[in-house]
Amino acid sequence: MAALEAPLRWAEPCDILRMGLVSYAGFEPTNFRAWMSPYHKQYPSDMLAFERATAQDYLADPDYLCIVIEDNPNPDEVSFTGAVIPSDDVAAVRHGKRVQDQGRVVVGLDRQHLNGAWPSVCTTPDDCPTRDQYSDHQDTAYELLINSGDEHLKDCGVILEYLVVHPAYQRRGHGQALLKWGMEIARIDQQSAGVTAADSGMMLYGAMGWVKIMTYGMAADEVSPEGFSGCVMKYYTQPEQTSGQAGGQDWQVESETNVACNQDAKEAKNDIGVQNLVDQLEEINDVALSLALTLEQTSLSEEDLAL
Ligand SMILES: CC(C)(COP(=O)(O)OP(=O)(O)OC[C@H]1O[C@@H](n2cnc3c(N)ncnc32)[C@H](O)[C@@H]1OP(=O)(O)O)[C@@H](O)C(=O)NCCC(=O)NCCS
Repeated sequence: MAALEAPLRWAEPCDILRMGLVSYAGFEPTNFRAWMSPYHKQYPSDMLAFERATAQDYLADPDYLCIVIEDNPNPDEVSFTGAVIPSDDVAAVRHGKRVQDQGRVVVGLDRQHLNGAWPSVCTTPDDCPTRDQYSDHQDTAYELLINSGDEHLKDCGVILEYLVVHPAYQRRGHGQALLKWGMEIARIDQQSAGVTAADSGMMLYGAMGWVKIMTYGMAADEVSPEGFSGCVMKYYTQPEQTSGQAGGQDWQVESETNVACNQDAKEAKNDIGVQNLVDQLEEINDVALSLALTLEQTSLSEEDLAL
C-alpha cells in the first residue's frame, strides 16, 4: 500500500542539508533553474541556503508530505553536476557521517500537497539570501505556475509539488519509485494527481501514465537565452476522469492506462478494506504533524542554513 519501504523513507530534519544539495544538483541543468536563479554559479552558497530553507519550510508544514530515497554513495558524485558545491559544504560532513553509520545517502526527494486541493501558492523562504536569483523571472514564473494550476489542478486530491534526483543517481528507477508512492496515495483516495512539471520531468511522468493537459512557457531574454517551459500533467484514477475540456481543447486519456489504474485501486481496496485506507491516510497526516513538531524542537539555526 502507501507504506514506505526502503530505499524510500520519511524525510527528517537531519536530511535538510543534504536535500538542499540534491535539489541544487538535480535542477542545475534545467531551464527552470536557469530562469529562476541565473546567477547561481556566482553565488552557490545563496542557492544552497535557499534550497535548504525551502526543504525546511516544507518539512515543517503539516499540509505537505516529504519523502526521500537513499542509495549507495558515489564518492565522485560532484563530477556529475554543473552545480557549484563548496568543498567545505556542511552537507558533506553530514553525508560522511550518514555513510559511516549506514552506508547509504539521500539521493532524491519528493514533496506532496495532500489536502485535497491545489494550494494556489508558491512559497519562498523568508530572510534568505537571493543574489543567485532574478526577481523579475521569479515573479513571472510563479504567476504562471499558480495560474496554470488554478485553471487545471483545482480538482486534484494529490499535488506533486517537487520531485528531484541527484544526477549521479539518475536512470536507476529512483524518480519512478518516488513518483509511484504519490500515485498510490491518489489511487487510495480515488482522486486525480497533478503537477506543474518542468520539461526535464515530462519523460518520467509520461512513462508512468500521466497525461499532458497544457504547456506553458516564458520567452528567452538576455538573462536566460533558453527561456523556460513546462506543462501541467495529471494522473487519473477514476473512469469519469477520462475525458473533458482543458485549455480550450478536448482531451482523452488512453484507456489502457486507465484500466490499469482502476484495477490497482480495486485490488488495493479488496486487500485491506475501505476503513483501513481512510485510517492509513489519517496516519500519514499524523506523521507529517509529528515531523513538524520534531522540526520545531530541533530547528536548524540560520547559520547552519546559510553556511
Ligand atoms: C525527472 C527525474 C526526477 C527522473 O529521475 P530518475 O531517477 O532518473 O528517473 P527513473 O530512473 O526512475 O526513470 C524512469 C523512467 O522515466 C523515463 N525517463 C526518466 N528520465 C528520463 C530522461 N532524462 N530521458 C528520457 N526518459 C527519461 C524513462 O522511461 C525511465 O525509464 P528507463 O530508465 O528504464 O528508460 C530527474 O531526471 C531529475 O531530477 N530531473 C531534474 C528535476 C526535474 O525535472 N524534476 C521533475 C520536475 S517536476
